[in-house]
Amino acid sequence: MRNILIPIILLCFLHSNTCMAQKEKNGILLVAFGTTVPKAKIALDNFDKIFKAAFPNTEIRWAYSSKFIRKKLRKQGFEIDSPIEALAKMGEDGFKTVYVQSLHTIPGSEYNDLIKTVDAFQNMPKGVQKVKSSTPLLYNHHDMEECSKALLSNLPKERKAKEAVILMGHGTHHPANIYYPGLQYYLWKHDKNVFVGTVEGSPELSDILETLKEKNIKKIWLMPFMAVAGDHAINDMAGKEEDSWKSILEKENFKVECYLKGTGEINDIAKLWVKHLKEIMK
Ligand code: CO
Repeated sequence: MRNILIPIILLCFLHSNTCMAQKEKNGILLVAFGTTVPKAKIALDNFDKIFKAAFPNTEIRWAYSSKFIRKKLRKQGFEIDSPIEALAKMGEDGFKTVYVQSLHTIPGSEYNDLIKTVDAFQNMPKGVQKVKSSTPLLYNHHDMEECSKALLSNLPKERKAKEAVILMGHGTHHPANIYYPGLQYYLWKHDKNVFVGTVEGSPELSDILETLKEKNIKKIWLMPFMAVAGDHAINDMAGKEEDSWKSILEKENFKVECYLKGTGEINDIAKLWVKHLKEIMK
């Protein structure tokens, strides 16, 4: 009896092992720029919540693309992976296919660096076999239409039509900066009093000022057009210093209200990123 049992047990064990090897383990990697502002993390937590709800059966991991942010967080005792570290660990943990979703706004430097990383991780020996990446919030004509509609239906409720809204985008030296004036075109199709400005690119606030005066605008709402309402929104947009947008506009006699919500906190917009990921996971 014993002589028969041992080979049977051994066979069962070998069979279950090959079955496990056949079942592919897939995962999702969400890549944000990152933030060191605890309050701004609400937006990233919201992304986590809505992605988990959309993909309940797939493990979701996180990476921050900003080395500066990761370094600053490390000093505060928080470890967060770079995209390279996260993909290497996912390979080590047995993931065969990883779907990477950039939580960036435009296809600028951060996004293009991420694509280079994704390319480098294809067919890694003993690692992840396939890495598929999706696009950021704004990429094609359809994204521009959907995002501008989602923005316009999520402006501060108290804002009246004759009052202006200025969205503060990040802006970049990268050619993809063109997405900001591009978005302006799409927004103006629906609402001529909604403006797009940037902190580190163009259009600048000074480009918008003249139009505001021509239109005889009295009151302005400031709102970030960034995934998180972090340092730029809190200080450069709504800060007390005299070079903040709020101070500059008040000095020009406009009444200013600030709405401190990142686009990651606005479900209609955050879901557009989810939609992009769903497209590549089809
Ligand atoms: Co910046």
